[in-house]
Amino acid sequence: MFTTIRSYLFILILLPWTTYISGDTKIAVIGTGYVGLVSGAGLAEFNNEVICADIDTEKIAKLNNGIMPIYETNLEDLVRRNVQKGKLSFTNDIVYAMTTSDVIFIAVGTPMKDDGSADLSYINEVVDMIAQNINGYKIIVTKSTVPVGTGKKIRARLEHNFGINPTLFSIVSNPEFLREGIAVYDFLHPDRLIIGSDSDKALTTMCKIYEPLIMDGTIRILTDIQTAEMIKYASNAFLALKISYINEIANLCDATDADVKMVAQAMGLDHRISPYFLKPGPGFGGSCFPKDSQAIINIAQQYKLPMLTVEASLATNYLQQKKPVEKLVTLMQNKINQNLINKKIAVLGLSFKANTDDIRYSPSIATIQYLQQLGAHVVAYDPVANNNMKTLFSDIQYCQTPYEAVTDADGIIIMTDWDHIKQIDFVRVKELVKQPFIIDARNCINPNILKRLGFICDSIGQSHLYRQKNECTYKVFSYTRN
Ligand code: UGA
Repeated sequence: MFTTIRSYLFILILLPWTTYISGDTKIAVIGTGYVGLVSGAGLAEFNNEVICADIDTEKIAKLNNGIMPIYETNLEDLVRRNVQKGKLSFTNDIVYAMTTSDVIFIAVGTPMKDDGSADLSYINEVVDMIAQNINGYKIIVTKSTVPVGTGKKIRARLEHNFGINPTLFSIVSNPEFLREGIAVYDFLHPDRLIIGSDSDKALTTMCKIYEPLIMDGTIRILTDIQTAEMIKYASNAFLALKISYINEIANLCDATDADVKMVAQAMGLDHRISPYFLKPGPGFGGSCFPKDSQAIINIAQQYKLPMLTVEASLATNYLQQKKPVEKLVTLMQNKINQNLINKKIAVLGLSFKANTDDIRYSPSIATIQYLQQLGAHVVAYDPVANNNMKTLFSDIQYCQTPYEAVTDADGIIIMTDWDHIKQIDFVRVKELVKQPFIIDARNCINPNILKRLGFICDSIGQSHLYRQKNECTYKVFSYTRN
């Protein structure tokens, strides 16, 4: 309660500030991964002078040659434009970046450790470098997702391990809410800005950095560091929970002949629920929801508190990731009384969602592992993620086109709703496959098209559409407002 009042006080006190110190702020962004690179380019777009630094020489060389090391919609344009304007540059010299900047954004990875907690070793390395090279007042901003309490630990590390005078630095938590694939859009059009600090001076500078957004009316929440850190975990774990919930409802829809899409749409019309993140599928993946859900459980454990809802969300997700293969096994068993041993199964889509080459915790990994356990021969296709998946599975066949993948296949599992996959010519696919089994784990292909062509299919939470003998008629989704 006290924290809530305190947070609102911060907002009320600071909202009237509309003018900030003039001139561009010099910013160093340490780490040029999905978060760092998009944030660096976005901050440059807001008229700051940004230098992005990374120890990876190959990555920096690519960036200096205009080549993006990751696949992200519109990133190349954003980078090119700001490099040309002289607002954005790249370097391997991290000390140079730190010493020539007023604000240092830390955007290095915080991967999951074996015990489920976040590994802060990369963050600590950056903090130690700042301590060893500090040459004036610095604002140190955590952009990576870090456990609640990290800001305080950074302060303690600087003061106690290195004896840095506390007047020489401020700590800020400014969590990102970027979805891979549309991260550039999310950075330039955020729902809200979260900025946590115990220093008014740092908060003022942060508002100046984001001035174009604030002038455009973006809501900013100015609060303390630990509240900002908690907002990120609470948001990610809640979104993950929402997906696990709709996945369980989808499975219940399959059992009861209800239609999950309509259920989700109708639920979403209740503005207390909202329609977003209610798309059922093969379970959530990516570098954030699995890691952050596990980390918030870990944080709660440190305070000897249960986090049963989030534990249930992860348990549901584990089961959901097995669903596509289970559904294929059931179809083949029921229709031709055969199992998956020595069957050729085409997995279409490897990235954890469309429009990214990221395969971290992708549901496709669980699918391939499960198929292999059941004796299937896996053939895979993804428009951009084949190479990344090769680092995990060197023993499966990768294809350049979906048609190559489905040739002579006994079954197809659609794992990612890429446009490349949604636009597949299924007439051609029908001619190429050996057996006509398809599991659409993203509910992205029109069931009528597949049924008309004679495929035997299933999806997630819409089984009744495929079970109907005749062409299925879509019920019209209509509603009346009072
Ligand atoms: C997520 C959050 O959405 C961002 O706000 C956050 O900044 C980011 O994590 C992070 O912490 O860095 P991201 O992991 O890139 O972003 O991707 P999402 O679009 O959120 O999707 C995550 C997973 O949930 C994917 O596997 C996706 O297919 C699945 N999903 C999403 C569903 O199954 N159903 C939905 O309705 C939405």
